[in-house]
Amino acid sequence: MKLIAERLYLRDLEPSDVDAVHEYAGSIEVVLHQEWGPNTIEQTGEYIAACVLGNSLPDRRTVELAAVLNDGSLIGSYRASLSEDGAEAEIGYSLSPRYWHKGYATEAAKRLVDYLVSERNVREIFATSRPENVASIHVLEKLGMQQVDFYRKNVLIRGEWRDTLVFSMKV
Ligand SMILES: CC(C)(COP(=O)(O)OP(=O)(O)OC[C@H]1O[C@@H](n2cnc3c(N)ncnc32)[C@H](O)[C@@H]1OP(=O)(O)O)[C@@H](O)C(=O)NCCC(=O)NCCS
Repeated sequence: MKLIAERLYLRDLEPSDVDAVHEYAGSIEVVLHQEWGPNTIEQTGEYIAACVLGNSLPDRRTVELAAVLNDGSLIGSYRASLSEDGAEAEIGYSLSPRYWHKGYATEAAKRLVDYLVSERNVREIFATSRPENVASIHVLEKLGMQQVDFYRKNVLIRGEWRDTLVFSMKV
């Protein structure tokens, strides 16, 4: 699968992506607001293997994609998990800090949303974020999503209970 945008494209994650993904999946800066990581190289390998397996399933309810610049540089990863009836999807993403603040995160997320709406007929898209993750909240707002829920101290991240904002968009 390949979703082409302007400066980049999204394609299925592949086993050979391990080193490029690990460059950011092993960084505390990238996982600061997330429950996983920083990964060991073994954990990144297991993650990629699980993505490759998920992508190969016939119903493909979880889509795991690499974001790649038109020059071939892998800059991040995107996930969409569809509900059983296919009406809803939750999205998530991580980008290498080397490529932050260039609008790539928003461009790739918009392309993923476009795919979910036009090719998978998804009717509602969700995402979660920690309240402190200003960059991610900006991306979600630029997609047209609005905050619909707030969970207080519901996620344990490296020993600290953290809040969660839920964003949604009906399409
Ligand atoms: C979330 C993430 C993908 C955003 O990447 P990015 O490169 O900053 O995104 P974009 O360049 O598309 O910018 C999105 C908007 O957020 C703004 N923004 C980015 N970082 C910001 C910050 N620290 N403070 C305030 N605004 C910020 C940008 O200015 C931009 O808005 P603008 O176009 O109006 O200027 C990136 O920070 C990341 O990978 N973080 C770690 C993983 C993560 O937290 N993923 C989300 C899990 S919920």
